[in-house]
Amino acid sequence: MILVTGGSGFIGSNFILGMLSHNSERVINLDKLTYASNQNSLRSLANDDRYIFKQGDIGNRILVSNILAEYKPRAIINFAAESHVDRSIEDSSSFIQTNIVGTHNLLECSRQYYDYLRGEAKARFRFLHISTDEVYGTLGSADKPFTEENQYKPNSPYSASKASSDHLVRAYNHTYGFPVLTTNCSNNYGAFQHPEKLIPLCIHRAINSREIPIYGDGSQIRDWLFVADHCRAIEKVLDKGRIGEVYNVGGWNEKTNLVVVNTICEILDELKPRGDGLSYKSQMVFVADRPGHDQRYAVDATKILSNMGWQPKETFESGLLKTIKWYLSNTDWVAGIYEKQMEEGLDD
Ligand code: NAD
Ligand code: DAU
Repeated sequence: MILVTGGSGFIGSNFILGMLSHNSERVINLDKLTYASNQNSLRSLANDDRYIFKQGDIGNRILVSNILAEYKPRAIINFAAESHVDRSIEDSSSFIQTNIVGTHNLLECSRQYYDYLRGEAKARFRFLHISTDEVYGTLGSADKPFTEENQYKPNSPYSASKASSDHLVRAYNHTYGFPVLTTNCSNNYGAFQHPEKLIPLCIHRAINSREIPIYGDGSQIRDWLFVADHCRAIEKVLDKGRIGEVYNVGGWNEKTNLVVVNTICEILDELKPRGDGLSYKSQMVFVADRPGHDQRYAVDATKILSNMGWQPKETFESGLLKTIKWYLSNTDWVAGIYEKQMEEGLDD
């Protein structure tokens, strides 16, 4: 049994679906079901007795301790987080609460659980923390991609909260010998991603005749990785990672935001041409830049390649095409997100 936190979000749901597609191990998903979650992502598991869902907060000590005592997982994978940079700039309270205080609570409950394990169960137990390349800050155009040795220089409340959680994870290994692993990944894209993030936002707005906002001049660079490749990397690290080590995961795939949005518009022009013959590019508008906007992220994923043979399988072209086709066929999934947000009084 594996405990996954935040499994109803984008990467967590892809991870659970991917793992259960080739593995008989049971999964328990602890998720608070914030605005960012979508239970429809895991609807296909409704009658699968390998999957157990618990609604709740990683910051709830009694709940987490009870789950650990009852299900006795051999590993915990912590995806649960507030994940959107723009929201952290508007109000960082929930980021501090979940990403720092919540992760601390999860670590503390897990450490106590680990103390009671014996023999083989103790030897194989792992706590895998899912983090981000944003903890390393921003790169100049001539800088080398981030390695695991880069200094932490987080620039947004989101990345600062993730950096804090990474430090806590590291400290729990150093101080208590608690068996942790950490992955720091670049920008993911694929099915089930909330349309507040650039790629699904662009697709959703394009096909709904809305403006596609480009922050600043659109020259910022992200290193895009197809989510299924990230999920494979997580499974590898869980199986083969060395306790206390950090593994950077990236796509070797740097693109400016302008290139990403132009490419999406060109694919949509082919797959679902606008009725008036114009390109979707005509919906692009340049808007005020994100405060403190990091200019460039790029990940050096040499360590995970040389230590465990992981590298991305999907190209940006093939991954983006799959992603766009998925969003065109799953407009109900996106509609469900907006219905939930309206019920909670949140805008898009
Ligand atoms: P997401 O926002 O799509 O999903 C987060 C999930 O966590 C949601 O289901 C939400 O309900 C749940 N959650 C939030 N607060 C919780 C709490 N207190 N207790 C329990 N559950 C809670 O995020 P994502 O994009 O799937 O990211 C997952 C993890 O991967 C995060 O830690 C994020 O920092 C990291 N990450 C994301 C990316 C990316 O490109 N999306 C890249 C690198 C790292
Ligand atoms: O690098 C990993 C990180 O990637 C993860 O840790 C975060 O959880 C995830 O949200 C993502 O952060 P970004 O800020 O890079 O992703 P986002 O999709 O919000 O933005 C990608 C780029 O696109 C960024 O440079 C800002 C820009 N952008 C974004 C939006 C939403 C726009 O130009 N217009 C937009 O409307």
